[in-house]
Amino acid sequence: MSEKLYEGKAKVLYATDDPQQVIQYFKDDATAFNAQKRGTIVDKGVMNCAISSKIFQELEKVGVPTHFISQKSEREMLVKRLKIVPIEVVVRNVIAGSLAKRMGRPEGESLPNTIVELYYKDDALGDPMINDDHVFTFKLATPDDLTAIRRMAVQVNNYLKSFFDRLGIRLVDFKLEFGRDVTGQLVLGDEITPDGCRLWDKATNEKMDKDRFRRDLGGVEEAYQKVYQLVTGA
Ligand code: TMP
Repeated sequence: MSEKLYEGKAKVLYATDDPQQVIQYFKDDATAFNAQKRGTIVDKGVMNCAISSKIFQELEKVGVPTHFISQKSEREMLVKRLKIVPIEVVVRNVIAGSLAKRMGRPEGESLPNTIVELYYKDDALGDPMINDDHVFTFKLATPDDLTAIRRMAVQVNNYLKSFFDRLGIRLVDFKLEFGRDVTGQLVLGDEITPDGCRLWDKATNEKMDKDRFRRDLGGVEEAYQKVYQLVTGA
């Protein structure tokens, strides 16, 4: 096996012979609340690798640059090596999760406009919420980079909202990460899967994402299976 470069909560990065490319390996491990809750979702790695590969390919087609190169195996994605921008970008269409808590509103209300939130990517600090001033003051990204990141986040949202809508799924919110490849291009990185998105059945409002694990709702694997089948047509 090639050199392990980094192990995160849900994925492992391995080196390849090409210094510009790395393998992103998807694990079944699931965590929540900054890894205070840990578990396994059977075959999550296989499903998330396929879901993310399909979505990145679709995004590339509509002009969003991503780190995706190819799917190498059931759990392995060949991606561009990135220098990650330490900002987690959350895009919200519907009130849920920490937004519901922060604003004291019930989950499920559609927002009149999309909300984009920024979090400082630092597990030790619990990924605190930040704003543009923090980004510039602490040099997490340049103003031009942040403008490009926000524009891409909105573009991804517009595309994914209708993509999921066609599958009978309401895209409530999701998290994105960006990075620079070796040529200096800013691209979408990480993954787009039920781990980092809230996906609700349009007809029943049933949750089809990691909230089933976070909130002990049961039917976790079944929910991921459903999203996997709908997204990949498997
Ligand atoms: P939140 O409502 O808990 O802030 O989550 C918003 C979205 O971001 C939700 O779709 C889940 C995703 N998310 C992650 O991918 N990683 C995280 O660490 C957190 C807190 C949320």
